[in-house]
Amino acid sequence: MINLSSLKPTLFLFFLFSLFLHLATASNAPYQPSDLILLDCGSSENTTVDRRQWTGDLESKFGPLEPSYKKSVYSTALIQGDSQVPYTTARLSGSPFTYTFPVTAGQKFVRLYFYPARYQGFDRSKDFFDVKAGPYTLLRNFSATFYARGWNTSTFIKEYCINVEKDQQLNITFAPSVGSSNGSYAFINGIEIVSMPTNLYYTPPAGLGLNYVGQKWRFYLRNDTALEKMYRFNVGGGAILPVKDNGMFRLWEDDIHFLAWAGVVYRELNFSPNYSKISRYTAPDDIYRTARSLGPKKTYNLLRNLTWVVSVDQGFMYLIRLHFCEFLEHVITRVNDRRFSIFIDNQTAQLDFDVFESSGGIRIPIYNDYMIVVGSKEETDDYYLYISLHPNASYYDDVILNGMEVFKLNDSEGSLAFPNYVPPAPAPEPASPQLWLPTKKSSNKKTLLIAVGGSVMGLLTILSLFWYIYIRQQRKRKHNGSYHKSLSCWRWLNPSTGLSSRTKASSLPKELCRHFSLVDIKAATNNFHESLVIGVGGFGNVYRGDLDDGAMVVAVKRLNPESSQGAQEFKTEIEMLSQLRDTVCPQVHVSQ
Ligand SMILES: *[C@@H]1O[C@H](CO)[C@@H](O)[C@H](O)[C@H]1NC(C)=O
Ligand SMILES: *[C@@H]1O[C@H](CO)[C@@H](O)[C@H](O)[C@H]1NC(C)=O
Ligand SMILES: *[C@@H]1O[C@H](CO)[C@@H](O)[C@H](O)[C@H]1NC(C)=O
Ligand SMILES: *[C@@H]1O[C@H](CO)[C@@H](O)[C@H](O)[C@H]1NC(C)=O
Ligand SMILES: *[C@@H]1O[C@H](CO)[C@@H](O)[C@H](O)[C@H]1NC(C)=O
Ligand SMILES: *[C@@H]1O[C@H](CO)[C@@H](O)[C@H](O)[C@H]1NC(C)=O
Ligand SMILES: *[C@@H]1O[C@H](CO)[C@@H](O)[C@H](O)[C@H]1NC(C)=O
Ligand SMILES: *[C@@H]1O[C@H](CO)[C@@H](O)[C@H](O)[C@H]1NC(C)=O
Ligand SMILES: *[C@@H]1O[C@H](CO)[C@@H](O)[C@H](O)[C@H]1NC(C)=O
Ligand SMILES: *[C@@H]1O[C@H](CO)[C@@H](O)[C@H](O)[C@H]1NC(C)=O
Ligand SMILES: *[C@@H]1O[C@H](CO)[C@@H](O)[C@H](O)[C@H]1NC(C)=O
Repeated sequence: MINLSSLKPTLFLFFLFSLFLHLATASNAPYQPSDLILLDCGSSENTTVDRRQWTGDLESKFGPLEPSYKKSVYSTALIQGDSQVPYTTARLSGSPFTYTFPVTAGQKFVRLYFYPARYQGFDRSKDFFDVKAGPYTLLRNFSATFYARGWNTSTFIKEYCINVEKDQQLNITFAPSVGSSNGSYAFINGIEIVSMPTNLYYTPPAGLGLNYVGQKWRFYLRNDTALEKMYRFNVGGGAILPVKDNGMFRLWEDDIHFLAWAGVVYRELNFSPNYSKISRYTAPDDIYRTARSLGPKKTYNLLRNLTWVVSVDQGFMYLIRLHFCEFLEHVITRVNDRRFSIFIDNQTAQLDFDVFESSGGIRIPIYNDYMIVVGSKEETDDYYLYISLHPNASYYDDVILNGMEVFKLNDSEGSLAFPNYVPPAPAPEPASPQLWLPTKKSSNKKTLLIAVGGSVMGLLTILSLFWYIYIRQQRKRKHNGSYHKSLSCWRWLNPSTGLSSRTKASSLPKELCRHFSLVDIKAATNNFHESLVIGVGGFGNVYRGDLDDGAMVVAVKRLNPESSQGAQEFKTEIEMLSQLRDTVCPQVHVSQ
């Protein structure tokens, strides 16, 4: 049996995030938006999807308003794919049309749903249009077809934050681009409007303003500015779908595709965050229950950054919100346990930041907002924005991040528009062999699909058979007989070829790793017998296994295809475990 008291701190960490407890349901009541509009454009029916009711816009009180001699048409996409409401139908027109939403005063999320498919009577290559909401230009000469192709997705959502003054209506106008080509048209599949808590992102009248990276003065984000959501990540925890948000139906994406290096994921799924520092509606609890860090190797950490790379439009100002919460009880217990510096766009945003110090304790979420201007208005290339965390000397020499949001602010003319990406631009060469640069072409595909289809992760999990072997080999006893050396490596097994390829995470020569077949593992765990379950994690069960006729006892982690955690998280955890060389208990991972 494992004697817990003899375990090293690193192992204790390992136990905290590997033997997950099942998620306790959130005690947090969701936010109740005063306005909640879901308009299914081009449809005459009301449809319920994910327990949310979409209202058809035919004869709707919101319009559209248009000249009677140039009526828009409603149409059903010729190819439905696996899309669902509101993507199945669209309203299209060769002339402008306007929806008018009589909403309450205050800040709103406006979400536009697009499915650039072929629609009867419209040439798919001519969808060039402008979208205006109130005084703001959200999109100009926008091609949904190009956009979808650029991100390699069939459907997508554009999200904005807009303030509506008292006694004002929110008018959203779709207008074909003039001068583009004859026959250009505008279309929309769905519109969602959801109120948000006052000053969720905006600076309150008496607020202190935001840090302006590289500048001395502070920035006040006022109601006259519209925001466009560029990215919203649940760091280390996988996607959180809109229905799982705390009442505002925000999509929190998986950050894994935007990381230069995955770092180490920590999870603690059963605590209630203490919202004494920030509004409880800032983010769903789950954001604060997972985090990424560099890992337990101090010397190694000091040589590294934990870096996210996102592509953004040049010449705009951005709001970057970083969410933090220390949640490892008995691990982070005082100021100076974990201190780090934050760099945004390679500039210092904050030095010597300590989450425990700023929040005043453990399990108290906080966030930091930063403003930055990137690139120049003349450039139309993708701009790669780096967000890096680097440890400062402290007890753990580590960093932490739980969530991230990136918003674009309108320019001085009230516009958020950026030219289309016509030919997909190649990504710049990675700076180091380990650096992986996400591109517009592939990076968002999965997360968007999750929002839409929901089953990509499950599919991935089933399709990819990979397994990890982590063995602690007790070397021949040296000298005083107490020297132990541990050994780790993992292999990626390609299900189609049966060949495994070593990956960058594997740091030891192949010969030193011991490989097991599924048959061996089944024998060791008595075909994954229930009586041998020693724990349940987010990925599935953890089994006790006896190898070499009981000469070695191992823990076997099995990735359950129905697990809420996906293959990518499993892989991340494996990578993380590969670093814990001092772990006492040997690990074997299996997925099938
Ligand atoms: C759809 O719902 C709206 C309001 O929720 C209602 O006014 C309308 O009659 C409904 N339409 C149909 C076809 O049920
Ligand atoms: C912005 O608008 C909201 C509601 O419309 C109001 O409560 C808030 O005080 C306004 N903020 C500023 C800075 O004017
Ligand atoms: C929105 O459109 C309606 C109808 O055309 C108009 O009466 C109203 O003034 C517009 N509101 C704004 C803020 O432009
Ligand atoms: C709209 O964008 C397309 C593709 O980028 C371009 O060919 C066209 O000239 C643009 N039209 C206007 C009016 O800017
Ligand atoms: C657009 O159509 C008009 C009349 O139908 C024609 O005179 C003009 O040349 C066309 N322009 C282009 C760019 O095709
Ligand atoms: C939440 O944190 C505050 C300190 O910021 C503390 O005073 C309070 O007791 C905590 N509440 C709970 C329920 O732990
Ligand atoms: C971490 O990032 C900052 C800002 O980009 C950079 O100056 C520094 O050299 C990086 N450190 C390492 C170890 O990569
Ligand atoms: C930031 O640093 C990365 C890698 O160090 C580099 O590739 C990138 O071009 C830098 N960005 C800027 C704006 O200097
Ligand atoms: C913390 O780390 C940053 C970046 O490595 C460095 O610029 C800063 O001087 C460090 N502060 C201390 C007190 O070590
Ligand atoms: C956004 O647009 C509004 C209206 O044009 C303007 O007053 C405001 O200053 C703009 N915001 C920024 C950050 O430039
Ligand atoms: C685009 O997505 C499809 C499937 O959705 C995939 O087969 C293809 O490889 C992707 N292309 C790129 C360039 O990522």
